[in-house]
Amino acid sequence: MSIDIRFADAPLGHEIRGVDLSQSIEDATFAEIEAAYDRYGVIVFRDQTLTPDQQIAFSKRFGPLDRYVLERYNLVTHPDIFVVSNVIENGKPIGLADAGRYWHTDMWVKPIPPRGSMLYALEVPVRDDGEPLGDTYFSSMSAAYDALPDWLRERIEGRKAVYSARKNVEYRIANAPVDPATGELSEEAKEGMRERLANMTPEITHALVKHHPRTGRKCIYYSEGAISHIIGLDEKTSDETLEALRQHVLQPRFIYRHRWRIGDLVMWDNCSCIHKATGDFDLPLRRRMHRTTLSASVAV
Ligand code: SIN
Repeated sequence: MSIDIRFADAPLGHEIRGVDLSQSIEDATFAEIEAAYDRYGVIVFRDQTLTPDQQIAFSKRFGPLDRYVLERYNLVTHPDIFVVSNVIENGKPIGLADAGRYWHTDMWVKPIPPRGSMLYALEVPVRDDGEPLGDTYFSSMSAAYDALPDWLRERIEGRKAVYSARKNVEYRIANAPVDPATGELSEEAKEGMRERLANMTPEITHALVKHHPRTGRKCIYYSEGAISHIIGLDEKTSDETLEALRQHVLQPRFIYRHRWRIGDLVMWDNCSCIHKATGDFDLPLRRRMHRTTLSASVAV
């Protein structure tokens, strides 16, 4: 069977139709799905009904999985599934509400970050007028690389940047939504940030341009509010370059906005795109997602 792709009005975020991910997918169809994933960076499947076992089985077709580091947010029965949710049950959060409300690649704290992730929507917050909330944005880092102005390409090509856990946590605290009652970050959110910091390597170095391990395409490797400086540039030039890079990668022409519906499964490639959750909703509106994370096959 040849897969049916409905193209989004962006370089990524294309919808693959006619595939039931709860069933075992024949090898030829799987190869087409994997080729689309590698090529576009974000692919979308709508109207799926998946048990945790079925999501894990589909995820494992791509290779081994990584478990989320903060284990209490993984499903007890299926620890390969990381729960992204704002739902509280028996006084305890069932998942992590804020898995990244800033532009980022997943697990930049690791020398070899994961290949990518898939997020499956079980509950989606919807406003009174029917508008879904909690969208996720994706920006294509391969398209952004191809469109770099010459001066910026020359400035970043072959250079490495230092990522700082402390800088990132400070940035996330400064930009996190506050509790309207207290005007402060909730205790749970503060605790989450502290826990994250304790689990992160203080500093890690990544190339600013990486070759995609499967396609060979060059991609900008960037996360907002995480890079302290670019090695080999003075402070002013480094800051100016990072700001120019931020403005470049966040141009609307590279961005796909995913408006969630229950039953959506979205897969993103961690080298060729960055993403950001909006988090523009609160309880009693509920959001519940199951994420699996694909291990990196090759270092980049
Ligand atoms: C994530 O970054 O893993 C989650 C994205 C989202 O919650 O939309």
